[in-house]
Amino acid sequence: MKLKYLGLGTAAIGRPVYINIKENADEKPFNLSAFKTDGLKVLDEAYNNGVRFFDTSPGYGLAEELLVGWLKQKNDPNIKVSTKWGYTYVANFQPDATIHEVKEHSLKKLNEQWEQSQLLLPNLGLYQIHSATLDTGVLDNLEVLKRLHELKKMHNITIGLSTTGNNQTEILEEALSIEVENETLFQSYQSTFNILDQSLAQYKNELQKLSGPFIIKEALANGRLIPNSNYFDYKNLYTFMGILAQKYKVGEDAIALAYCRSIFPKAIVLSGANSKAHLEANIRAESIALTNSETEQLSAFGISSDKYWQERKQLKWH
Ligand SMILES: NC(=O)c1ccc[n+]([C@@H]2O[C@H](COP(=O)([O-])OP(=O)(O)OC[C@H]3O[C@@H](n4cnc5c(N)ncnc54)[C@H](OP(=O)(O)O)[C@@H]3O)[C@@H](O)[C@H]2O)c1
Repeated sequence: MKLKYLGLGTAAIGRPVYINIKENADEKPFNLSAFKTDGLKVLDEAYNNGVRFFDTSPGYGLAEELLVGWLKQKNDPNIKVSTKWGYTYVANFQPDATIHEVKEHSLKKLNEQWEQSQLLLPNLGLYQIHSATLDTGVLDNLEVLKRLHELKKMHNITIGLSTTGNNQTEILEEALSIEVENETLFQSYQSTFNILDQSLAQYKNELQKLSGPFIIKEALANGRLIPNSNYFDYKNLYTFMGILAQKYKVGEDAIALAYCRSIFPKAIVLSGANSKAHLEANIRAESIALTNSETEQLSAFGISSDKYWQERKQLKWH
């Protein structure tokens, strides 16, 4: 059965390390060929479980390339894909690299990455600026905005952007007002939203009115929403999530994912799973619906964006 609102984010299947709460890096030596095989297995597993939306980026190591080959083999027009431009993966699959990705929001980078990303067509439906910020000036760069509009017209794709950080609302405000040739350019947003950082809830109406999807990333707060004794402040939240998990016979991960859907019923919520076990656990969120009262009680555990992103900064690449 096709899943309605859960999509797969491919960051964790494209590079050996990623931001999470693990304390120790994997002890096994990294093997690129086995890593690719595992990644393809996750894509197949997701597909077989009904996932038809996949999010990727050239910044996610080999994820985009893996997806291009996999899509050709699947040959299914029902699969929808989003990708992004603006980050280049530079760690060459070295788990101990000090720099993993480099950000560049120039027209040159857009054109360079589009050359590769367009191989995702015709499944590619959404092209996003990867982590748009005010300081890179990308939202004021008319050449970039015009080029994105041109790509939209040429390939019949939606243009969007992703946001990260404690000023997501500011970027959203700015981006929502941008027009090219009298058309609102950004019709889709991919943002962090979860029980802890609910700052985007105030834009619910605006986001759900757009022609493209609102995509929720980091719904599990990079793993912080999985009960963990290192986060003492969230003890009561974990207890409540545990009660709900028992009631619905799912894991706490599914409760956190279902929460996002309760607040944004039309959103696509990304699972960042890179194993069969996590994927299957995450997907169980599709089969439950929290009550209004449960959603309100979970909302009461929200923290300030500043605190959320301060804590996020402490997380390491594992
Ligand atoms: N700027 C951007 O555009 C941007 C930024 C970040 C993410 N994204 C997109 O969003 C997707 C999702 O983000 P994310 O994966 O970083 O965040 P996330 O979903 O908030 O967190 C994933 C973390 O939760 C853990 N987890 C998941 N299911 C679990 C389970 N059942 N039991 C225990 N732990 C579980 C994972 O553990 P493991 O580590 O063990 O798998 C991982 O550490 C990415 O793949 C990417 O496509 C986009």
